[in-house]
Amino acid sequence: MRLKPITIGNITTENNVFLAPLAGYTNYPFRRLCKGYGAGLCYTEMVSAKGLKYGSENTKELLYTEENEGLCAAQVFGNEPDTLRAACEHEAFAPFPIVDINMGCPVPKIYKNGEGSALLENPILAEQIVRECVKSGKIITVKFRIGITDDKLITAEFAKRMEGAGASLITVHGRTKDKIYAGDVNFAEIEAAKRAVQVPVIANGGVFSNADAERLMRETGADGVMVARAALFNPQIFCELTGVPTESKLEMFRKQLKWTGQVCDERFTTVFMRKMAAFYVKGQKGAAAFKEKLFQAQNPEEVWAIAQQIWQE
Ligand SMILES: Cc1cc2nc3c(=O)[nH]c(=O)nc-3n(C[C@H](O)[C@H](O)[C@H](O)COP(=O)(O)O)c2cc1C
Repeated sequence: MRLKPITIGNITTENNVFLAPLAGYTNYPFRRLCKGYGAGLCYTEMVSAKGLKYGSENTKELLYTEENEGLCAAQVFGNEPDTLRAACEHEAFAPFPIVDINMGCPVPKIYKNGEGSALLENPILAEQIVRECVKSGKIITVKFRIGITDDKLITAEFAKRMEGAGASLITVHGRTKDKIYAGDVNFAEIEAAKRAVQVPVIANGGVFSNADAERLMRETGADGVMVARAALFNPQIFCELTGVPTESKLEMFRKQLKWTGQVCDERFTTVFMRKMAAFYVKGQKGAAAFKEKLFQAQNPEEVWAIAQQIWQE
């Protein structure tokens, strides 16, 4: 993958390989891990603009970060321009100079509320949202899908509108809302978006290897790639894409367990790291038996003991 820095507003990233927002996963320790493996920009999971408005503690926790994280983007969802702007201006967003607006989430509850991918059907409102959020002084970016269904693809026009409204970068997930995460990525639509705008375009969808990333870049002409599910199974995919040296799975797991334990309570750490271990063990011999054991672990020490059995050196 050809690496290059990406300029987003007045900020320049180290490279063009980004970690996607992943609800339930891209917390501070996980982002720290991926950054160490070479990710040029990491995103928080999506947080609700309304949640912040009503003082939800949970929403604030999702935005937890530490000074040493460095550059990171926060992602927000909603559909009220003033509520989204207030979120950008909220103190919980202070550590994040870049705010990405989610216009791709296909989850029924979000879509039915007119949020996430529903904004693809309401481009005027989507523009108003970006215009209002830009007034917060944050660098605003947008992540969206190529349309709701394959018979009505909107990518280039939507990209142009977002740029016109003030977005400093767009990320295109090359699938429709109806496809959720399945099916081929539509390279032509991402390419059409790239041709339509001057701001950087990041291509997203289906990157599970360096060859995938190279193909996505080649076929779309995009400025960079965003990796989502592959990072859940293998955070060291960023090493493969950026040339950072790899380390053992056990060492990776040890770090993530330690860092998660430092900022999350014991219950969360246990449940979260059990889930992560289940991702990391996928495809390995004896994975099913290890998973069964894992899910009986009651505390981080027990999770660690099982991880050592799985990945003994
Ligand atoms: C578990 C899970 C959580 C996700 N959460 C978010 C999210 O919070 N915000 C967002 O924009 N996309 C979210 N996505 C979509 C991904 O960021 C990405 O667009 C999608 O998975 C396609 O990329 P991939 O083929 O590399 O997985 C999520 C995807 C998954 C599988």
